[in-house]
Amino acid sequence: EPLMRRVVEPSIVRYFAWRGDPVARWMRPQSKGDPYPLYEDIRRRGLVRSSLGPWVTASHATAETVLRDRRFSSSPVHQRGYQPPSFPLGDPRAELPAGDLLTLDPPDHTRIRRLVSGAFTPRAIAGLEPWIRERAVRLLDQADARGPEFNLIDAFAFPLPIAVICHLLGVPAEDQDKFRAWGHDVVTTLEPQTSRAARHHSQASEIALAGYLRDLVAKRRSDPDDSLLSALIAVEEEGDSLTSAELVSTALLLLVAGFETTVNLIGNGTVALLGERAQWDRLCKEPELISGAIEELLRYDSPVQMTSRTATEDLEVDGTVIRKGIPVIVSIGGANRDPAIFAEPGRLMVDRPEAARHLSFSLGIHHCLGAALARLEGRIAIEELTSRFPGLAMAGTPVRRPLLVLRGFETVPVRAAA
Ligand code: HEM
Repeated sequence: EPLMRRVVEPSIVRYFAWRGDPVARWMRPQSKGDPYPLYEDIRRRGLVRSSLGPWVTASHATAETVLRDRRFSSSPVHQRGYQPPSFPLGDPRAELPAGDLLTLDPPDHTRIRRLVSGAFTPRAIAGLEPWIRERAVRLLDQADARGPEFNLIDAFAFPLPIAVICHLLGVPAEDQDKFRAWGHDVVTTLEPQTSRAARHHSQASEIALAGYLRDLVAKRRSDPDDSLLSALIAVEEEGDSLTSAELVSTALLLLVAGFETTVNLIGNGTVALLGERAQWDRLCKEPELISGAIEELLRYDSPVQMTSRTATEDLEVDGTVIRKGIPVIVSIGGANRDPAIFAEPGRLMVDRPEAARHLSFSLGIHHCLGAALARLEGRIAIEELTSRFPGLAMAGTPVRRPLLVLRGFETVPVRAAA
């Protein structure tokens, strides 16, 4: 198993947490509530080596260097001690390529990314605005009809991105609940520290999702529609096209990346704004600020808190040698609060001029392919919420999902008032 997972077995975490190890402290439950003081501590210490193996950075400049340097790879195959996974016969994951866009290196990454982005153009994304807005309005109508109090996540923040990505990929509406459950399970595989039971459960969901998508790709091959999936099947450039296995793995990534992150932009963003009432009120009065405010919401409480890269050779960063095969954890949440870039980083300011320098969509060759779509969904969600419910207020304590990589809420009780 990848180093990240092997090295953070809970007992070791407890041991090093007691020894004050920064990575282990990060894994502790209390950090999940508010990890920002810990990031600050890590940033102050520079590039730090965890006794668990990886290096960690929470500095914006160092994060930028690592993410842009192609000699740092996203693929776990470069990690020291890496063992390739093996799947039982008949497991649909056995037919998938060894990596997806997120984890492939060039030239495979370049080839697949070129083919996929061809069907994912900014114009196609902008054309989705009326559809997304109509869906957002309908969801808020339903929430409003059910009563003055509702859980923002269940009623709005989750169903909106799911509907959008299923619409894009051409997944039948009646299957969307299944997707939500599978996606919820699959993302726990991103977590460095999950129990054996949770891992088993998430693998079962991954198998179900891969099998479902394999069947859907086969169906669309013989019966194309106007969905992104059919466009991906048809895409061909200079005689090159995606194989069925690549299509399934890309669809799986798009699906999970498409809603498990955007839900947190809407959820974290709304909670942050309601916590700073003046900022919420300002967006209600000056909706033209919302587009820029989305960048600040992404910065302030990033839906993706970290990523990692592995040195493919001995490399020097900030005067420190990172040995070949050792990962560097890039704290996106930490880089986004670096005072070298962001003045008063702990303050939410919807008109912050430097907000767009956040690293929430990462940088370099793996920069989020769905960034334009996520920004569009986030803008529409906040526009519709502020215009319909300027008096929106918290109706209880929001509950966070106990995850480190994806930061978001399970429940956000709100009271709607026009
Ligand atoms: C990659 C964040 C929404 C599709 C990434 C990465 C980040 C990220 C941080 C790069 C990870 C790394 O460098 O290791 C986010 C956030 C979102 C969001 C914060 C919402 C607020 C979306 C959406 C889609 C999407 C809506 C698709 C519809 C992808 C894909 C990649 C990616 C395909 C892999 C790109 C590559 O490796 O070449 N995203 N994402 N994301 N994202 Fe997103």
